[in-house]
Amino acid sequence: MNGTGNESPLFRIVAVCGKGGSGKTTLVSLMAGVLLETGRRTLLIDADPTAGLLFALGQKVNKTVAEIREEVIRRARRIATEEDRTELAGSIDYFLMEALVEKGGLSLLSMGRQEGPGCFCPVNDLLREAIETLSQHFDLTIIDGEAGIEQINRRVMRRVDTWAVVTDRSRRGFETARLISDLIGRFAPSSATGLVINRADGTGVEPGCYAPLFSQGVLGCIPEDEELATFDRQWRPLLELPATSPAVAAVREIMGKLGL
Ligand SMILES: Nc1ncnc2c1ncn2[C@@H]1O[C@H](COP(=O)(O)OP(=O)(O)OP(=O)(O)O)[C@@H](O)[C@H]1O
Ligand SMILES: [Mg+2]
Repeated sequence: MNGTGNESPLFRIVAVCGKGGSGKTTLVSLMAGVLLETGRRTLLIDADPTAGLLFALGQKVNKTVAEIREEVIRRARRIATEEDRTELAGSIDYFLMEALVEKGGLSLLSMGRQEGPGCFCPVNDLLREAIETLSQHFDLTIIDGEAGIEQINRRVMRRVDTWAVVTDRSRRGFETARLISDLIGRFAPSSATGLVINRADGTGVEPGCYAPLFSQGVLGCIPEDEELATFDRQWRPLLELPATSPAVAAVREIMGKLGL
């Protein structure tokens, strides 16, 4: 894994990204299961508009960040004085706190979808800053990213210090991972990046095959897990997967490598 690695920030922000369907939400859900045992104060951000993470964790959304944004826009239109503006900026943190769903030591925040036309960039900036503030109240923040490269391109996740780039064994998955890591190298050169190979065949050959192709290093492999697939088919939360599941064991190892 590349990156500085030597600093030990008071709070950490880890982002999971990769091609659509590569296993981002699966990885974050299994990480959440491990973190629940430790009781570490963790913020999970579902940055995928389809809110797959909350679903995988068996939780319901209170309010999404997109809905908060709508509310802020409505209020911003009524701003008359500088005082109103300051008050609104101050209340965004409060709105975000209200949107958090709690489970054990975990707090979940769903980004949701931006509805309607128009560019709300100033409000997006306000919210991004508020999210950055929010993450300071937690030991660890893990972001389940949107598929592909857009959020990285737009530097939505500018404070991330560690990137886990997930790929399945498809060529497209791997090419997307490489593209993502190039962008991270360009936009966030001081952060650490590593590859997670999902749906590995269990023979253990993948890290050796992929390592020379992905210069940032391989964090680990999550095997194809029949029990996990059954949970998914039965719409059961992945948090309930037993510790004996090979995928859970693999994620535990990856977390060890990340120092989580
Ligand atoms: N190791 C695994 N073993 C078995 N099934 C898996 C494994 N990893 C992922 N899957 C299944 O593959 C599908 C896609 O996984 P997941 O939703 O985690 O991908 P994603 O990258 O979050 O997708 P999206 O880009 O749509 O958000 C799910 O049905 C999931 O259950
Ligand atoms: Mg997902």
